Amino acid sequence: MRTIAVIHGPNLNLLGSRNPDVYGSLTMEQINGKIDCRAKELKISARIRQFNSEGEIIDAIHSSAGCAGMVINPGAYTHYSIAIRDAIEAVQIPAVEVHLSNIHAREQFRSTSVIAPVCKGQISGLGWRGYLLALEYLAAAGDE
Ligand code: DQA
Repeated sequence: MRTIAVIHGPNLNLLGSRNPDVYGSLTMEQINGKIDCRAKELKISARIRQFNSEGEIIDAIHSSAGCAGMVINPGAYTHYSIAIRDAIEAVQIPAVEVHLSNIHAREQFRSTSVIAPVCKGQISGLGWRGYLLALEYLAAAGDE
């Protein structure tokens, strides 16, 4: 069975209570439940993890090297972490960048993603459904 790594970045453990008007009202556990459910339907396994620190995210990316793909929401690190960008590039598995909010419709600093160039694509602004769409893409990507 193919495994897709799902990596949530900093502050996403606070979903549910953190700016629900921007990020929605579901908790991370509820979103993870939806990811697990979709993964079962797609007959893949989702290895879901959340980290607040940059180093732990980098370790998680390295340990995803054997996975069929990666769904990653690096939170604020998206906008400036060259180290996370380099880690994604180094593992050479297809990655999809996901953001709950539309990073292009908020503060100017959020519209820059340093990881976008090393990802297959970016899903931004579709809330928790973005994770499921990314999973669907990666589950199908190996079949093309
Ligand atoms: C986010 C957008 C980032 O700008 C922000 O720092 C986050 C969440 C999103 O999912 O919309 O923590 O990645």
